[in-house]
Order: sequence, then C-alpha cells, then structure tokens
Amino acid sequence: MNRLLCTLTLGAMAAMAAIAAAGQDVPPADPEMSVNDLMITLITPATNTLWGIEDPQTAEDWQVFIDAADLVIDAGRTIKVGGTGPKDTDWAADPAWQAFADALIGAGRDARQAAMDQDIEAMYTAGEVLYPPCEECHLQFHPGVREQ
Ligand code: HEC
Repeated sequence: MNRLLCTLTLGAMAAMAAIAAAGQDVPPADPEMSVNDLMITLITPATNTLWGIEDPQTAEDWQVFIDAADLVIDAGRTIKVGGTGPKDTDWAADPAWQAFADALIGAGRDARQAAMDQDIEAMYTAGEVLYPPCEECHLQFHPGVREQ
C-alpha cells in the first residue's frame, strides 16, 4: 500500500470510528407517535415539572426531576427522527429543526445533571435554557403559531 493510500485508509477508519462513536447518540429509529402528540403528552408535562420546581428535599423529590429530564431528553431524541404526523419527516430533515431539538436535549441534560447534583440554582438555569428552543422552533415550524 503506498503512503497516500495508507493515509487515506487511516483517515477513513478514523472517520468511521467517529461515526460509530456518534452513533451511540442516534435516537430511536421508528417513532409511533406524532410530533404533536409527543409535545402534548410528554414534553409539556415533563417541562412543566421542571419549570415548577419548589424546594425539593428528599432524594425522592429530586428523582421526580431526574425522571422529567429523562423524558425531555428522550422526547427530544425522538423528534429528531420525526414521527407519524403528516409533516414530521419533512421537519426532521431540516437542519434548523435538528438544532432546536439538540438545544432541547442539551437543556434536558443540564436539568438532569442539576437534579442529580441536587443543585437548585443549576435547575433554575437549566429551566431558563429549556424555554428558548420551544419558542424558536414553534415560530419557525409550528403551523398554528406561524399563522397567528
Ligand atoms: C424542534 C422543534 C420544536 C421544539 C424544540 C419544541 N416544539 Fe412544541 N411543537 C413543534 C411543532 C412543529 C408543533 C406542531 C405540531 C403539529 O401541528 O403537528 C408543536 C406543538 C406543540 C404543542 C401542541 C399544542 C399547540 O401549541 O398547538 C405544545 C403544547 C408544545 N409544542 C409544547 C412545547 C414545549 C413546552 C416545548 C419546549 C420545552 C416545545 N414544544 C419544543 C415543534 C417544537
């Protein structure tokens, strides 16, 4: 194998390793709900829990927020794939959609870490980071909001 080919092969192998590593973050492949249903049944109640935080004391109190953050993260990963709604697949193909979903997931992860650390200030901060992706994504993609 000549040197150039060798370098190319190593480069390709590194790229494949990077894809494989990133692949651990690939969301569930085949959602059976629409984006709208996910918004109403998962994202809204879970984020209301995170935004409604009041002086948690026990590990059980904090667990409620860990569970809610997990729901936000998984719902975010699911909407990255789309869903069964008529426009869901087209939305998921848009890079802006992916970026808003990633912002939602990132805020969910911050909230999860804050709840694991039992850090109320970090919970409030995560709650603030959680809101803009809702608003910005709705402005761009939510037909009901766009037509208002
Ligand atoms: C990646 C884009 C995106 C993000 C992020 C997002 N939404 Fe949505 N949401 C949508 C779209 C698109 C719809 C409309 C779906 C439809 O009509 O089929 C929607 C609909 C909804 C609905 C249905 C009721 C209504 O308003 O018509 C609720 C409630 C909702 N979202 C809440 C939230 C909350 C709360 C957040 C943030 C925690 C959030 N969404 C984040 C895209 C997003």
